[in-house]
Amino acid sequence: MFQRTLITSALPYANGPIHLGHLAGAYLPADLYTRFLRLNHEDVLHICGSDEHGVPITIAAEKEGVSPQEIVDRYHEMNRSVFEQFGIQFDYYGRTSSATHLKTSADFFTTLYEKGAFVEKTEEQLFDEKAGMFLPDRYVKGTCPKCGYEEAYGDQCEKCGTALSPAELINPVSTITGNQPVLKSTSHWYIQLGEMQEQIEAWIGTREHWKPNVTGQVKSWLDAGLTDRAVTRDLTWGVPVPLEGAEGKVLYVWFDAPIGYISATREWADAKGEPEAWKTYWQDKDTRLIHFIGKDNIVFHCIMFPAMLMEHGGYVLPDMVPANEFLNLEGQKLSTSRGWAVWLQEYLDNFDADLLRYVLGTTLPETKDSDFSWNDFQSRVNNELADILGNFVFRTTSFTHRFFDGKVPELHNPSELDKETLKSIGQHAQKIAERYRSFRFRDAITETMNLARTGNRYFTETEPWKTRKENPEACANTIHVCSQICAALSIMMDPVLPGAMKNLREQFDLADSLAWQDISDHLAVPGTKIQERDILFQKVEDELVEKEMQKLTERSRKAQGHGSQGATKEGDESHDEGSVTKQPPVRENTDFDTFMKVDLRAGKITHAEPVKKSKKLLKLTVDLGFETRTILSGIAGHVSAESLPGQSVCVVANLAPRMMMGIESNGMVLMAEEPDGTLRFVETEAAPGSPIT
Ligand code: 2FM
Ligand code: ZN
Repeated sequence: MFQRTLITSALPYANGPIHLGHLAGAYLPADLYTRFLRLNHEDVLHICGSDEHGVPITIAAEKEGVSPQEIVDRYHEMNRSVFEQFGIQFDYYGRTSSATHLKTSADFFTTLYEKGAFVEKTEEQLFDEKAGMFLPDRYVKGTCPKCGYEEAYGDQCEKCGTALSPAELINPVSTITGNQPVLKSTSHWYIQLGEMQEQIEAWIGTREHWKPNVTGQVKSWLDAGLTDRAVTRDLTWGVPVPLEGAEGKVLYVWFDAPIGYISATREWADAKGEPEAWKTYWQDKDTRLIHFIGKDNIVFHCIMFPAMLMEHGGYVLPDMVPANEFLNLEGQKLSTSRGWAVWLQEYLDNFDADLLRYVLGTTLPETKDSDFSWNDFQSRVNNELADILGNFVFRTTSFTHRFFDGKVPELHNPSELDKETLKSIGQHAQKIAERYRSFRFRDAITETMNLARTGNRYFTETEPWKTRKENPEACANTIHVCSQICAALSIMMDPVLPGAMKNLREQFDLADSLAWQDISDHLAVPGTKIQERDILFQKVEDELVEKEMQKLTERSRKAQGHGSQGATKEGDESHDEGSVTKQPPVRENTDFDTFMKVDLRAGKITHAEPVKKSKKLLKLTVDLGFETRTILSGIAGHVSAESLPGQSVCVVANLAPRMMMGIESNGMVLMAEEPDGTLRFVETEAAPGSPIT
């Protein structure tokens, strides 16, 4: 049995702001889990900080013409603050340029060096004579030896995904001066992963509880055979290699960054005046170490860092690495360089943190890539947070105020339904806890919302507005039971909606110190005066969603042809390709059968009119030959309704009906979007109803 949990969240590069992709990958799941364990009053420590070394930082600095230090100072503070505003609770947010980190990582290297974990190799590497420096990683571009792509980077080809080393590139060019580099010999230290293959394989064999997406990636690395990896670079920005004669060399950023978790824990211990306390979390075998990361960090956290810890000795190894897949945005890959991202600070300037915590929490890419869209954001906030949870609390509290003097009524002679509903509180709590413990946060949140659904259904079925006169005791019982559900939800939903649930606890006069174990069917004390407050969640209006969409498209257009913004990565950056295109990238492959499920038909618009109160929607009547459809289309800003009758269109005929602005839409009209945002119909001369195959 573990006695404590050490949670780490991937250290974001301090070269740009935090966006939704970062949150969905590591930080929100880590925070949900940490908050859940804290609610259980478990011993848990959550560590994070800024990754301030490596080529991503120096490239960002060169682009702006400032020093790397200026870049990391700016983004360290910005990111620390935005995490705090979003309610991510770190016990310590460190940075890898700190004195503690420089010493901790240099000492770590020295220990491994002294234990003989490294081999020194002298090899020819690319050197830019004009810049007077070697060209590691992204400092060099050239033609991929595997697929012929001409813009491949020194660490990876973004077209075919192959991991490369700079010397493998054909026709290499320095990204600093544009010059052709020459080969020059240099020495570096390599960790001998090749020799550790069996040891690592045996350890991975004991991680049967890992998620399949993580184990799959790890196994494919192991199957390909581990090879020695250089842990030093010829650069000036980084942790200097602590060896005689190693001037001008620094530790590879992926060597020092994970040690950053240890340094930050040391700083946390120093700050609380117990300098040895970090050891309990890193070196006591009763600690459960969990790394929350995105999928591009898997190899470093599941092979490289564990290998370093094994070689060092005395450290616990990760018990779990619940890596998430990627979050897409509006159906496209998120890309900071193309401006296709939603920045967290920008979001927080306009909306409440809780809303995004809920929506992202229910769409986390836990098993496969998932998608965030503003329409989905709006419908989850409006239909779930406001209409289910908010509405349930409001019905309960306002009824109590109108008819029970604002006080939680007693329970007398409960019916079978009352008893069953009360019982379901404990059943939900158990199910939700199981889901949190198995890292299924999406399910945990859905299950929590289900309790509010149960509450709403129960309220409607027991009809307190009728029993109030016919059977006052039954009416009081209904409100008693609903109050118990509200009280229980104020704890159960707390990891997801810390702001709103604090508010709810205050309403029911419940202490913030309540634990998960306190969840029961008698938390709300009869006679307690419930405070009357505003509804918990305001609905998101169409206009706001339209504004966000506009912002996104405009920024993406502006970014075409301009440099990158936002934290970018070293290593696998294929989800954030830097090449500039006028058109959005092609979406991920879909299989033939899935595509064939979409029934496309030729159609003709016979009538079109604006939808009241919507700036975006037009109501179209479309002739499909065999029937006439009503289809709502968000094209009001692009075409006039009067111009549409007679327009031939291509229609998705088997799209599930959808209610928008109180009208049912039955299908979708396809449009092509040009780079300047102009929308054009996909036209066909075929007779209405003709299948498009
Ligand atoms: O991918 C990234 O953003 C890296 N900065 C993550 C580092 S995690 C840890 F090793 F520090
Ligand atoms: Zn390639």
